[in-house]
Amino acid sequence: MKEVFDIDDLADRVRLDLGAAHPARLAVIGRPVAHSLSPQMHQAALDAHGIDARYIRIDIAPAAVGEALRRMRDLGFTGCNVTVPHKIEALETCDSSEPVARLLGAVNTIAFTNDGIHGSNTDAPGFLKAFEEAFGRSPAGLAMLIAGAGGGAGRTLAAACAMAGASQLVLVNRTVSKANAVAEQLRSATHSPPETLVLSPDDPSLCAIARDCDAIVNATSLGLSADEPPSLPAAAFRTGQMVFDAVYRNGPTSLVRLSESLGCKSVDGRLMLLHQGALAFQRWFPGTEPLESMRRALQSTAGGS
Ligand code: ATR
Repeated sequence: MKEVFDIDDLADRVRLDLGAAHPARLAVIGRPVAHSLSPQMHQAALDAHGIDARYIRIDIAPAAVGEALRRMRDLGFTGCNVTVPHKIEALETCDSSEPVARLLGAVNTIAFTNDGIHGSNTDAPGFLKAFEEAFGRSPAGLAMLIAGAGGGAGRTLAAACAMAGASQLVLVNRTVSKANAVAEQLRSATHSPPETLVLSPDDPSLCAIARDCDAIVNATSLGLSADEPPSLPAAAFRTGQMVFDAVYRNGPTSLVRLSESLGCKSVDGRLMLLHQGALAFQRWFPGTEPLESMRRALQSTAGGS
């Protein structure tokens, strides 16, 4: 059985399901996608619920997302997850979408329904559930620093914090103009936007401001490989701070290692992967409880980055 499928495999069911125990009804599409842990997680939940379906990975080129989604719809797929770099293009292909997906300009979950291709975004609520599980509370009333706030993930996490009622947002991004654009969008789209400060990582006041924050969130891509430094220096952390690294790899990220050594309570991105996945599964199969089977599958997976 293939580890990674491509758009040509979506030509017909015979080709797609050759030698498989279950028909492919769900997938993650992205590029690259070989490293994705979504298949292990979702297949465990499908099997636990006795659903006759297989979850596969499909490598799709940019600009082919619309074609891929239409082929999946025509082949009778239930839905799919969408990962980097296709989340914006997927939204453009949808016939309908959740308000939060439109606010974020990105879709990570597609459902093929009688009414067409429906897009939703479980990244933002998945982050909030992961935060709640890790720290026993929501970001409501907290001062939150988001490193990498101008990137795709950062924009989602900043919006999630704003929607959850964070009292203050410190948006840090190497390209400051991108963080400014996020701040502007949150001001215009959020009901009562938090007080928001945009900073460059080089700003001399960054470390003092970061130490004053209740929680630090890393949404940069730094930390994917073991030799990459954390997105913030040691002086940005203080004992007791909550640290949420949206990155995960096989082993602790550099940010989790550093911040834990400084007395912070820290988690990596696997918890968010788990919760966004469970919420996506429930969009496809309402009334199911996939969280614990997905958690076990993720815990027993050695690899992933
Ligand atoms: P996107 O999510 O928009 O596709 P990305 O290239 O994956 O972007 O990068 C995600 C985030 O990591 C961005 O905030 C990016 O900062 P810029 O917007 O300034 O590019 C940040 N990032 C990537 N590499 C970085 C590095 N070496 N140092 C600091 N931030 C970095």
